[in-house]
Amino acid sequence: MKKIFAAFLAAAMLASLGGCSSSSSTIDQIKKEGKLVMATNAAFPPFEYIEGNEPVGVDVDIAAEIAKDLGVTLEVSDMDFNAIIPAVQAGKASLGAAGMTVTDERKQQIDFSDEYVKSAQYVIVMKGSGVTVDSLSEAGIVIGVQEGTTGDFYATDEIKGDPNTEEVARYKNAIVASQDLMNGKCSAVIIDEMPAKSIVEANADTLELLPDVLTEESYAIAVKKGDAAFLEQVNKTIARLKSEGKIDEFLIKHTGE
Ligand code: ARG
Repeated sequence: MKKIFAAFLAAAMLASLGGCSSSSSTIDQIKKEGKLVMATNAAFPPFEYIEGNEPVGVDVDIAAEIAKDLGVTLEVSDMDFNAIIPAVQAGKASLGAAGMTVTDERKQQIDFSDEYVKSAQYVIVMKGSGVTVDSLSEAGIVIGVQEGTTGDFYATDEIKGDPNTEEVARYKNAIVASQDLMNGKCSAVIIDEMPAKSIVEANADTLELLPDVLTEESYAIAVKKGDAAFLEQVNKTIARLKSEGKIDEFLIKHTGE
């Protein structure tokens, strides 16, 4: 038991040292294992979703290109959104690709690649319910969100203005949040633009997307802090994909437009 604890401590210390040492480089680990591990939460179409039994999506395609440029294969590790940053920090995943919005708080924990997509928070409501953005702050109006996302932060801090509010229902993902909206357990769901559109499209008879744009956000890939060589490698692939028009291609492929 003591030994395990000591090993855990050592690992934790190494992880926190990541910021100033380059001795444990992600590229070395990827090449040694012959695979790049992408941490994600695959309930966020079109960026990551399950098709058959396989996680697919824009982020999976981007990570596959990063792996290809490193000459290794891609392994996708599906987990709770809140577990992605800790997995990257601990080196259990080479990177986190999950439609992850760049925020100052997250920048304290991991490094972000160059941004690859612009996004925003949108509101989904029941068709004909009359729920508006202005009504979301009213007492008794419960907002569904995915736990730990920028939608969660917006609903909690900006709309309810209370970190302890019980009127924000935090779900494991936007798909289960939307199911509870349809079951009448919440009045609205706040989630990123493209997942919102995809969820509303899949339930067009029941759900409606409000036109209001709540935030301005950009997505980037999360890597371990202080690993400049790997960050540069990730940015190189992103720059190549942008210049080849591949990111737009991936978006079209996964939205079916
Ligand atoms: N963009 C939002 C955020 O970074 C939500 C991301 C959720 N991603 C996912 N794969 N479930 O907080």
